Amino acid sequence: MTAQLIDGNALSKKIRGEVAHRTAALKARGIQPALSIILVGEDPASQVYTRHKVNDSAETGLAATLERYPATMSQDELLARIRTLNADPKVHGILVQLPLPAHMDAKQVIETIAPAKDVDGFHIASAGALMVGQPGFWPCTPYGCMKMLESIGYDLRGKHAVVIGRSNIVGKPMALMLLQANATVTICHSGTKDLAALTRQADVVVAAVGKRNVLTADMVKPGAVVIDVGMNRDDAGKLCGDVDFEGVRAVAGWITPVPGGVGPMTRAMLLVNTLEATERASA
Ligand code: GUN
Repeated sequence: MTAQLIDGNALSKKIRGEVAHRTAALKARGIQPALSIILVGEDPASQVYTRHKVNDSAETGLAATLERYPATMSQDELLARIRTLNADPKVHGILVQLPLPAHMDAKQVIETIAPAKDVDGFHIASAGALMVGQPGFWPCTPYGCMKMLESIGYDLRGKHAVVIGRSNIVGKPMALMLLQANATVTICHSGTKDLAALTRQADVVVAAVGKRNVLTADMVKPGAVVIDVGMNRDDAGKLCGDVDFEGVRAVAGWITPVPGGVGPMTRAMLLVNTLEATERASA
């Protein structure tokens, strides 16, 4: 058996089309959805990511502004800028690209963003809303994974989902979203004793560790859905995920590729959250 691919590029294209449509409807009412992105410092990966976010926005009709500041910017200056954006009714979403320079306190920076504009879903209020099942903003990566499961018509009710990784940005919110969809959820991490014994029981595995070959074919139940959040480089410098793709695809029922899987979905869900923030502010 060879697993079917869940194509993140195709699905994200469809979602971006829907965003463009809803954005046009808002514009017809005189509302321009707007996202402010703040980049502090010169981190090369962050420069690439923020450029993508600006381009994706422009393509769907959202107005994204990239504000770049030197790494020497003070924490107080950054907080003041965020407060100004919080108070600006023309700005619907605020995203501070991470990582921040070492002298800054990322936690305080994120908590300064108005929850109503927290399109990354990183604010403690967004995390709390997800935990108790109230409306808020879901972090883009696990939100994108849920959309991928939805796209194959997968009913999570009563299924066993195993999440490998417990970060605040992916693992923990992923587990809560799966739980909200009535899956039975196990969270595994570096302290888990027998990872393979747990993943072998899983109907759905989400690998979000940031390490190659965390999930291999012998760890997967035949027919399982495998979602690969990892973004790593192999020995040849080629992009790869956390899953041994070639091995696991021979066992799984569905699998997401890297690249072209979760990555484009993360980008698409930022647009969805920005649009949602605009619609809520304009209701
Ligand atoms: N750095 C890497 N990924 C992200 C992201 O999704 N949001 C922010 N704000 N910073 C990041």
